[in-house]
Amino acid sequence: MSETIIRQLEMTGPDERRLLDLTSQNLIGTPMLRPDGPLKVAGRATYAAENLPEGAAFGVLVRATIPKGRVVSLDEDGAKANEGVLGVFSGEAFLRNPAQGGAGQAPVQPDGEVSYLGQPIALVVAETYEQARHAAYTMAVDYAQEQDAAFDPEAEDTPVERPDAKQLDQGNLDAAMSAAAHSVDVTYRTTPDSSAPMEPHASVASWDEEGTLTLRGSYQMLQLNKKELADAVGVGPDKVRMLAPYVGGGFGSKLGIAPEAVAAALAARELERPVAVVMTRQHVFEMTVRRSETRQRFRLCADADGRLSGFGHESRVSNLPGESFSEPVAMTSHFLYSGENRQVAHEIARVNRTCAGSVRAPGEAPGLMATECAMDELAEACGLDPIEFRKRNLPQTQPENGTAYGTRQLAECLEQGAARFGWDARQARGARREGEWLIGLGVATAARTNMSSPAKARVTLRENGSALVETDMTDIGTGTYSILTQIAGEMLGLPPERVEVRLGDTDFPPGSGSGGSWGAGSTGSAVLLACEAVREGICLRMGVRPGELSLKDGEAVAGNQRARIEELTADGPIAATGDFKPGTASQQRILASYGAHFAEVAVNAVTGEPRVRRMLGVFSAGRILNARTARSQCLGGMIWGVGEALLEDLVHDPRDGHIVNHDLAEYHVPVNLDAPEIEIAFLEEREDWANPLQSKGIGELGICGAGASLLNAIYNACGVRIRDLPATPDKILAGLIEQEAKGGLPAAV
Ligand code: MOS
Repeated sequence: MSETIIRQLEMTGPDERRLLDLTSQNLIGTPMLRPDGPLKVAGRATYAAENLPEGAAFGVLVRATIPKGRVVSLDEDGAKANEGVLGVFSGEAFLRNPAQGGAGQAPVQPDGEVSYLGQPIALVVAETYEQARHAAYTMAVDYAQEQDAAFDPEAEDTPVERPDAKQLDQGNLDAAMSAAAHSVDVTYRTTPDSSAPMEPHASVASWDEEGTLTLRGSYQMLQLNKKELADAVGVGPDKVRMLAPYVGGGFGSKLGIAPEAVAAALAARELERPVAVVMTRQHVFEMTVRRSETRQRFRLCADADGRLSGFGHESRVSNLPGESFSEPVAMTSHFLYSGENRQVAHEIARVNRTCAGSVRAPGEAPGLMATECAMDELAEACGLDPIEFRKRNLPQTQPENGTAYGTRQLAECLEQGAARFGWDARQARGARREGEWLIGLGVATAARTNMSSPAKARVTLRENGSALVETDMTDIGTGTYSILTQIAGEMLGLPPERVEVRLGDTDFPPGSGSGGSWGAGSTGSAVLLACEAVREGICLRMGVRPGELSLKDGEAVAGNQRARIEELTADGPIAATGDFKPGTASQQRILASYGAHFAEVAVNAVTGEPRVRRMLGVFSAGRILNARTARSQCLGGMIWGVGEALLEDLVHDPRDGHIVNHDLAEYHVPVNLDAPEIEIAFLEEREDWANPLQSKGIGELGICGAGASLLNAIYNACGVRIRDLPATPDKILAGLIEQEAKGGLPAAV
């Protein structure tokens, strides 16, 4: 390499250079096809468990069959008496609850302690998968069971914590409620959910003679996962290499390492041969993370003009004792709507259920589900159209501390969505009927806090005139391969076929990982910065100034000079590393992506069955990098909204807390017939405060508020307000019957 350049950028203010508006390859924002698409459909993009090294043994996790207590003994000898069994692994380092990806350290977990039914307590390894499974499922385990387990987050004797940092009291909400012209005091309940990724959690571990661990797995944030794994197995991070070039969905369940990674690594070290541990579908449901159920009470009040005077949001969520994560349902309550008198209260019930953790849009997904229904209820109480009511209550500055907003085209999303969807055809509730079907329209706001994460990427302009992008960033189905190809191609004036993107290998510079919708903005920025430095390298070789350079289709032009890229790299490649750091910019502006959901739902007046007819999402998320993958993200998120509002419910047995519906047959996610015609539109936007791409997060935006638009449409269709999710036909029917008994719908508003 003739040059090694590092280009760093820390976001301490806006980046108003808007470099991607100055280039001419015209790749950014196009619906470019995924470079990994053909590999995936042809089965050539291999996932973790499809790449077994020579001589691999197979491990199967043993699940606890008590909800609380200690493992006294494992019948290891009995297990080893089975044909093919090589060993049983448990002990101090064995990971019982999944890590959460945050601190980059595996959680400390007392040896042998059981805190939920289904928790992994050991690994049995054998020559074949079937041998390991048989021995794991039949191994005798002695427990000392404790009788004081808590299963119900709402029960009187369940321990509850109220962390000080998650409470807010501003003004006087009680007084505002009593003085208000209009108010609602309503409680919503959302269900526990599973992330249910298509690819089960899997890890294949092998150690070389120098004591270096290679782990091929299915993970979202390799930079942190590597540290967690090193910490758990007691080696330095430099002794761990993780590979995850393709990941079949994560949705938060792969942010941190799951128990199978540590188990595979420990067993492989001991046995001195590679060990593969692939979770079963049931294991994924039980042993990774679930989304907490929530109880959310809203006390909202407004003056006679429908202007919020008070906003109160009290929530209760749950997690295992000692776990630091708690579903942050009040995230948008701090900045979305106005109201001088504000209260946020947050409680965590300590229950013996599968560990709760991040699931797509942690916080906003269940939070906005309830907020946007409660806002619909207050709009009606005020006699206002729900869109007008929301627009009237957008604060000028953050209502708690006066921070300025970044780009926020929420009103525009609502207005443009209304026009596209035909909102003016909406009738009073219960007024539109087609035979047995009552038809309603609903609306809800989408909002998701924009986050960034440190990220590095290396870009090399090679002798043959093509570019190579390397980072340990992952593509969990989101389109990372696509957008990094586009950013590098755009910045270096290369068509996509001359850009190669390599991901998911910790030998590459550490990217941001995929989480919190920050992947594209953070790692994309690192690629942009590296390319900016490579452009300067080109200028040096041409003897021109950066301002003069223009790159397109593999040709560099500056003044009257003109050269092919491969001529410029003939003497050696030009390489640079981009280093993106989130700075104080995110404290100077409230940065969030926004949108508006519109839904048309038909409710059967005889059976209570809801049928989603069509949905529209209009979003503003800064610069859109790829129209196709951005649309797919929002589409997928909105379908999650259908699931969360109408179908999904992870059922815990009230007697022992175990998950009853731990597979895709019993845990109902939407199938094609449940997913209606969905239209997606984006508004043009540049967010200079977020990153040098001017983009904002999009991966989790689509789910935020989507379900509320359906519940609001159900209410508009038939007058039944479902506050206890999911809105299944039995609940809607019960509402219809109750309404009938009271003499039908009250006078429409
Ligand atoms: Mo996300 S729930 O941060 O993968």
